[in-house]
Amino acid sequence: MKSTDSIQNSRDDSSLQVLSNGSLRHLLTLKGLDRPMLIELLDEAQSFVRPTGSAPARRRTLAGRTVANLFFEPSTRTRASFDLAAKRLGADVLNLDVNTSSRKKGESILDTIYTLQAMQVDIMVVRDAGAGVPAYIARHVNDHVSILNAGEADVSHPTQGLLDLLTIRQHKGDFDNLTVAIVGDIRHSRVARSAAEGLQTLGVGELRLISPPALAPDPADMPGAVIIDNLDGGLRHADVVMALRIQRERIGNLDGIPGIDEYFAKYGISKQRMKLAAPDAILMHPGPMNRGIEIESTLADSPTSVITEQVANGVAVRMAVLERVAKSLLAR
Ligand code: CP
Repeated sequence: MKSTDSIQNSRDDSSLQVLSNGSLRHLLTLKGLDRPMLIELLDEAQSFVRPTGSAPARRRTLAGRTVANLFFEPSTRTRASFDLAAKRLGADVLNLDVNTSSRKKGESILDTIYTLQAMQVDIMVVRDAGAGVPAYIARHVNDHVSILNAGEADVSHPTQGLLDLLTIRQHKGDFDNLTVAIVGDIRHSRVARSAAEGLQTLGVGELRLISPPALAPDPADMPGAVIIDNLDGGLRHADVVMALRIQRERIGNLDGIPGIDEYFAKYGISKQRMKLAAPDAILMHPGPMNRGIEIESTLADSPTSVITEQVANGVAVRMAVLERVAKSLLAR
């Protein structure tokens, strides 16, 4: 077992994920996935969407496969939706309880992975606070194992990016003429990074990143986006508004970051502020939400909000991704 390699945060793991035959072996990042691949994934996800209240889509395409959910950071939406998606495709699903796993006794992450690999787990869904962890695991697993990134530090959250793209496409159609405004803690947000990567690949008209200066991204990190610190100006005529929470767990020094009341006054998305956006604008939030801080509570529950649609689309997107990598397993 190789367990001594260091975890590297290359921020370019795209070369690992698509095989020479064009199939998707791992999903680590949206960076480097081309437009046809993104469109195919969105089309496949759309085929799994069912109206609210009707029976969910089911297939048996993962029958005989085993999916393990390894969440080394908290999650509600991503973990539950991968669990449901895998079960609705007929897989055996293992939800490892990391609080009682042997990593708590000092076992290395690779030894945990090798243990599950020996139990014939085919697909591992990994969330970790460490940058580079999903790619590190992907470099070490056997050929028959696929790794899906379920949220990696501030770097990447590719299935969240896909569900955001799907939700926008359902409401707005093409991306070319759209203005998308992402508002909040962009600097520490893996959601913003994956959304930006996917939107740029699909040719979004304009991408605005709005935040207090202390939470703004490095411009080199998100090329092509317009970085703005004035919320009212940034919201003007936007077709899509995505609110983000402050990622306090990833911020060592809170200097320069407004307190709760000041933050809501300057950067909170309210019904009043949404009037600056296009008349048919939609409001998104990846969750978990902090009502009354980055988003007005009544707005989150209003017809402008598509937040519950994002959650529903999360299951469909994860079904599409699981099916894709399962097909790649057959092609190897
Ligand atoms: N959007 C998102 O990743 O939510 P969870 O942390 O609940 O999975």
